[in-house]
Amino acid sequence: MTEAASFPLTLPDPLTPDLVPWARIVYSSRSGNTQAVAEHLAGSFGLSAVNARAELEARMEDRGPDGRLLRGDTAGTADEILLLGFWAWRCGPNPTMRDFMRGLRRRRVFLFGTMAAWPDSEHARDCLACARELLAEGGNELLGHFFCQGRLAPAVRRNSRHPRTPERERRLNEAEKHPDAADLAAAEAAARAVLTPLMP
Ligand SMILES: Cc1cc2nc3c(=O)[nH]c(=O)nc-3n(C[C@H](O)[C@H](O)[C@H](O)COP(=O)(O)O)c2cc1C
Repeated sequence: MTEAASFPLTLPDPLTPDLVPWARIVYSSRSGNTQAVAEHLAGSFGLSAVNARAELEARMEDRGPDGRLLRGDTAGTADEILLLGFWAWRCGPNPTMRDFMRGLRRRRVFLFGTMAAWPDSEHARDCLACARELLAEGGNELLGHFFCQGRLAPAVRRNSRHPRTPERERRLNEAEKHPDAADLAAAEAAARAVLTPLMP
């Protein structure tokens, strides 16, 4: 057999629908909690999970001096659903995920987040409102969300300047146990409820 004949005669078309992922997970995680949820969702739905920092760095050439994306969206097709994972920071997504969200245009998004706060608290609602606002700026559609607690890194807890009230200590002690298996299952169920009608 000649060398040329050993190659496939027709190369796959990169736009063939079954080769285009229908959804992708992009997450940001400093100490692993959000990454654990991202990886669970990736495994459950057979999707890839990529780090938002890597995704942003891959697009550096498209940025202006202020760091904002100049030419619209991140990689992927406009139809692709994004599952975006963040850790809570100052009543909203962490800085890298905020930056990533600012680059999105007209995407359908399912959000997931981990936080030291209770996931049904006013603080969690503020985090959701902040993310919703960031997404709305680019005309993106928020399909649904899932939040759970996530343990504070020990050094962060030790060095925190927040008053050590009994309520706070109880909440952070509970956060130590999360995300747990029930959180991962609940994240999957929340995503499945939203995504099932949209799956190819
Ligand atoms: C610098 C810093 C700021 C944080 N700010 C908040 C906050 O405002 N609200 C909150 O609920 N949790 C806050 N947390 C807790 C993290 O969001 C939480 O532990 C999360 O699960 C960390 O996720 P990761 O392991 O994916 O990085 C903060 C953590 C750090 C390190």
